[in-house]
Amino acid sequence: MSDRTLSSADRLVVNLDQALRTLFGRPKVTERSNPADAQTETELDEAQRDHIARLMRINHTGEVCAQALYQGQALTARDPVVRKSMERSAAEENDHLDWCEQRVDELGGRLSLLNPLWYAGSFAIGAAAGLAGDKWSLGFVAETEKQVEGHLDEHLEQVPAEDRRTRAILEQMKTDEIEHGQKAKAHGGIDLPAPLRSLMRATSKIMTKSVYRI
Ligand SMILES: [Fe+2]
Ligand SMILES: [Fe+2]
Repeated sequence: MSDRTLSSADRLVVNLDQALRTLFGRPKVTERSNPADAQTETELDEAQRDHIARLMRINHTGEVCAQALYQGQALTARDPVVRKSMERSAAEENDHLDWCEQRVDELGGRLSLLNPLWYAGSFAIGAAAGLAGDKWSLGFVAETEKQVEGHLDEHLEQVPAEDRRTRAILEQMKTDEIEHGQKAKAHGGIDLPAPLRSLMRATSKIMTKSVYRI
């Protein structure tokens, strides 16, 4: 079915379906395989495993937020070309979501209980940015991706070199996020005002701190 034939009500149902898949089911992924598959497992001590599982839980929640943001944005995007192009980014975020969940599982961790909360908040922000206009919502995506890239770098510093499976996922995610940000800019995303960027950073700090624990 093409976008053109979807009514607003249809789109709402599609969004609800995607929200439930993101939070509780199997999200629709792309053709790509998990980059960790090509890497062998390593021995980690208990404390390392626990810490890395928590970092990957943060990344998983980050991807839940990314999913919500892209969906909120897609619901309101005015330009069909932009919407189509953002759909590919959203599908790649689903890959990230899936890979992070697999790694959390492998390390014996669990996903965050706060995911529905962060999904709802990010969806609202994505939709609000979308209502403000494509250049704002694309600017928001670009800034988000830039901040995520920063987080991934921080995590890469903390994950030991021997943990190749975790690192392979983080490195592929970083490559993708950079591309997503560039794409959003190329479609006309504007630079966000500094207070908004600070607010986003403060919010993500609350997310990472709370999700590390819960
Ligand atoms: Fe991502
Ligand atoms: Fe991304």
